[in-house]
Amino acid sequence: MNRSGEGNLMGLDGAAWSQPDRYPLSAKYDAAWVLSMDMGPHPLWQLEDLLTDLNLRPGMKVLDLGCGKGATSIFLARECDVDVVAFDLWIGEDEMQSNFDAQGVSDRVAAVRGDVRDLPFQDGEFDAIISIDAFEYFGTDVRLIPSLLRVLKKGGGIGMTTPALRTDPYQSPPPASVTETIGWEAAGWHAPEWWATHWSLSGLVDNVTARLQEHGRDDWLRWSRALDDGEESPVVAMLKADDNQIGFALVSATKK
Ligand SMILES: C[S@@+](CC[C@H](N)C(=O)[O-])C[C@H]1O[C@@H](n2cnc3c(N)ncnc32)[C@H](O)[C@@H]1O
Repeated sequence: MNRSGEGNLMGLDGAAWSQPDRYPLSAKYDAAWVLSMDMGPHPLWQLEDLLTDLNLRPGMKVLDLGCGKGATSIFLARECDVDVVAFDLWIGEDEMQSNFDAQGVSDRVAAVRGDVRDLPFQDGEFDAIISIDAFEYFGTDVRLIPSLLRVLKKGGGIGMTTPALRTDPYQSPPPASVTETIGWEAAGWHAPEWWATHWSLSGLVDNVTARLQEHGRDDWLRWSRALDDGEESPVVAMLKADDNQIGFALVSATKK
């Protein structure tokens, strides 16, 4: 995989690849740059879709939970005119900060390294919480939503995206092509309805919405193909074999 993204874009029409009709805000970002921030399938497309379920307003303070290298944090500051705390476990503050400096958003985005299970923030510090493609690592724990909501203001919005199966893995075993590629982690690819129940059972949120992203699987395939170095990756093979099961769950709610 070419992390710079440049080699992979040879022969690829970056402008068309960016799907300006479907994702007009994300399409403003250079395709090679977006690919160079890769830690999972197109975070900006997921975020732009999720934003239609949330009510972000200029000047809000937003926690970008599990932001990776920070592409979504940059997008939030630029496109939504909000102040962002970019929070991640695997990526160090220096790497995140250099990305924010390079994109000229350091005045709106602060990098913090840490674990969601031990959030170093005040009660009610954030107006909204966003998390793109990270909940599969920690979100199934019933303790997570209560501890996360501690740092969210009453009435504040929370929204996340995570890999999902249309039929919940606890209802019917995932397709063999998924378990062969993803292994035990597929048990966490819950259906959107599962997430809605999981959040609602906390008794701490209202207005829960959960849906499978309409073009999630196609977007994922488009992203993974752009990162393939000539040879088809196992993820591309899995997505090609998919029978309308794989996608992303987009889940949102407000804190009571
Ligand atoms: C698949 S990557 C996605 C990164 C980024 N959101 C994106 O879409 O490019 C998952 C991210 O979740 C973060 N993560 C996993 N466990 C975490 C935890 N316990 N606390 C905070 N972040 C965590 C990792 O550091 C990683 O950057």
